Parts: sequence; structure tokens; C-alpha cells
Amino acid sequence: MGKLQADPEWRNEGVFGIIGDMRILTGIQPSGKLHWGNYFGAMKSMFDLQEKGENFMFIANYHAMTTVRAGGALREATRDVALDYLACGLDVEKTVIYRQSDVPEVQELAWYLSCLTPMGLLERCHSYKDKMARGFDATHGLFAYPVLMAADILIMNADLVPVWKDQKQHLEVTRDLALKFNNAYGEIFKLPDAYIPETVATILGTDGQKMSKSYNNTIGLFEDAKAIKKKVMAIVTDSTPMEEPKEPEGNSVYELYKLFATPEEVESMAASFRAGGYGYGHAKKALLEAYHRMFDPFRAKREELAKSPDALEDILREGAKRARAAALPVMEKVRAAVGL
Ligand code: ADP
Ligand code: TRP
Repeated sequence: MGKLQADPEWRNEGVFGIIGDMRILTGIQPSGKLHWGNYFGAMKSMFDLQEKGENFMFIANYHAMTTVRAGGALREATRDVALDYLACGLDVEKTVIYRQSDVPEVQELAWYLSCLTPMGLLERCHSYKDKMARGFDATHGLFAYPVLMAADILIMNADLVPVWKDQKQHLEVTRDLALKFNNAYGEIFKLPDAYIPETVATILGTDGQKMSKSYNNTIGLFEDAKAIKKKVMAIVTDSTPMEEPKEPEGNSVYELYKLFATPEEVESMAASFRAGGYGYGHAKKALLEAYHRMFDPFRAKREELAKSPDALEDILREGAKRARAAALPVMEKVRAAVGL
């Protein structure tokens, strides 16, 4: 079983000092219901940065088309992601939230970048190989996806891109393409930095592997309470009898508990495990309680927001307006530079 641990190799040295005046941008694909891994791996670092710069967060619906093949499902997932972010802490006064497809110019920029993208650069990308290994169709969209991601970032002139370590290579591709473009056409693009917080670990799923919708081991942020209870109670543990002392570090239930509980509560659970007479059933109950304590207020807010689809649409429309206001001047420069 993997240990929940920050990987210092991925630390983004040196960015923090100048974070104040930054444009911060991130995106997430609406390709399924968001789960605990998404919250602690992606959403939370975005919320934590809301005070630190000018923030943009977009729902990458063009990207999701690489795997979602039904219009209704894509539309619903896009709306769900917006509700999830707004419910969990995205503050529209501090962060512009928009749908990727509301800035269609990213497609145009992706083409310009494509014309400078060496095939070898994309062939080296892990995400394509990983998706092939998981049985996805080998499409051009999936292969070329890092170019679209570069366009998402460069069109907004982003300085900092909070992502998880699985996206680190895509940020390298983005910088590479920005350099190639600048070399060919003049200094137009900034070189963005990835922001990969050292505290963000791999969140484990109910089977002890990385939590991922592809592994069918996720716990959704807003599944109904019964389903969540069932999944928490089914988290795989070893068969050490209840009476025996146990080492909690690395155990999925304990590692997940760390995400939701206070340091004192975590210490107390660790002591109980080590003392013996404390079973995984007890720990699962504590985990469930800690989840509800954190998420019940978010759930109530989400239910409120879901009652007004028009208000949500207004938020996204306003976000699109502001995002386009940032993107269009960049595109004007780009078009002039490439000769169109
Ligand atoms: P999935 O693996 O379920 O398909 P995605 O790849 O769509 O999830 O995840 C989007 C983002 O959510 C990732 O880039 C990462 O930031 C975060 N994330 C997803 N799963 C985890 C996890 N198990 N641990 C940490 N972060 C995760
Ligand atoms: N590729 C990211 C993911 O799968 C989502 C994404 C698309 C993104 N474009 C982006 C993230 C631009 C940050 C910036 O998680």
C-alpha cells in the first residue's frame, strides 16, 4: 500500500516569494463526478491561492471531449463541476470561473502552437500512453491535448498554474511551446510556472491504490450520505485483529482521516491504534464523521446553488466575459505576429 506523502522532488522552488502580483490559472476536466482525490489534489490548492493573485479557474469541457462522448453528459458534468467549486469555496469576487468553450479562441491558438509542436514532444507525454494503457481510444484529440492545454494557459498570460504532479510534464510542454513561439514570432508569451504544493500527497482510494475514477475506487464529494458510508466502511484494510496494536502510518483509513481531521484528532487516532483495542471499524466511523463535519456545510450550499440554474449561468457568463477580456488582447497580438 502506498504511503501518503508529499514528494519533495516536485516542489516548485522560488515561486512563493513573488506570488503576490501573479495571474494564477487552473482548469479541471468535467469528465465525471469529482471525488476526494480531486478536492485535496486540485481544488483545495486553488482555494488556498485565492488570496494570492488574480485567479482564473476554468472547466475544461473541450478537454473532456477526449473521453466523454455524449452531449448531455458533458453539459451536466460541466454544470456539476461549477457547482462543486462554488459550493466548496470558490469565491467569485476573487476568482473568475468560466467554461473553456466560452473562450473558443483557445482552439485557434492551439492551431498556431500545433504548427510549432514537434511530434516527438507529444510522443514523449505520459498522459497519452497512460490513457492508451487504460483502454481509451487512440484519437488525435487525446494525442494533441497538451497543445490545447498550453493554449489554455498562454492565452490567459498566466504566471502560475496550480496542478498536481501528473500535470507537471504538460507545464513543461507549455513552456517549451511558449519559447518556440517567442523565438519564431517575438516575445509574446510569458513562461508560466507550475505550482505543485509540497503538502499535496497522493490520495488513496477505497482499495488502497491512487483514488481515480479509472480504478473505480473513488468516494465522491457529494454522493448521497448512504453511498459514502458504504464506501468508507468498505475501505480495504489488513486483517490484524481489533485487540492488537497497529501501526497506522500508511493505512488508508488513517491516511484519509488526516485530510479531514485536526492534528490533535490525528494524534489521538494514532495513539489508539498503537495502544491496541482500536479497530479499523472505529477509525472508519471517525473518518465518516470528520468528512461530514467538513462537507455538510458545502453540501447545503451546493443544494442552495443548484436551485437556481439561471444564477449559475449568470456566474459562468460573467466569468466568460472577464476571461475573454483577458484573452482577446493576447490573441490580437498573436494574430498580428503570425501574419493573419
Ligand atoms: P481521475 O484520476 O479520477 O480521472 P483526474 O485525472 O480527472 O482524476 O484528476 C484531476 C485532478 O485531480 C488531478 O490533476 C489532480 O490534481 C487531482 N487528483 C485526482 N486524483 C487524485 C489523487 N488520488 N490524489 C491527488 N490528487 C488527485
Ligand atoms: N489537464 C488537466 C487535467 O486533466 C486539466 C487542464 C486542462 C488544465 N487545461 C489546463 C489544468 C490548464 C491547468 C491549466 O487535470
